[in-house]
Amino acid sequence: MDNKSVFDNLLAEIETLVSSGFPRDDILLRVCRLLKSGIDRYDWVGFYLVEADRELVLGPFAGEPTEHVRIAFGSGICGQAARRKETFLIQDVSSETNYLSCSPEVKAEIVVPILKDGKIVGELDIDSHRLSPFSDRDRDFLERVCRRLAGLF
Ligand code: SME
Repeated sequence: MDNKSVFDNLLAEIETLVSSGFPRDDILLRVCRLLKSGIDRYDWVGFYLVEADRELVLGPFAGEPTEHVRIAFGSGICGQAARRKETFLIQDVSSETNYLSCSPEVKAEIVVPILKDGKIVGELDIDSHRLSPFSDRDRDFLERVCRRLAGLF
């Protein structure tokens, strides 16, 4: 299957989950598992949820546990994406100065904000063990996923 079909199938599954009526965090956990198992280059998939408009708290995730369970806005890739309310796509984390390492295996990261009524309510964070694994299609796909998930907040 080409990328487009993979993305389309995943979006359809996520659509079904969002309409399922399951509790929000159950849905988010299932989304993490779907994305991690569906796309090889996604090695860690998790959500951070915004607390008090200034801090990110680790929510549901799939992959190894991380020590970064709370991240202040501005700190690391996640904190910068939260402050700017923009997707951060980092193809090589070794070139970043403001980066919080979870594991030496991680080579690349993409962080996509979840915006509700213009406010950031959470983020989708994906780590890859490969260098330069993400394309604009990944970005578009993950931004679509996050727009769909915003309705759960
Ligand atoms: N690398 C992130 C921290 C979170 S972990 O990737 C799970 C950052 O720099 O914000």
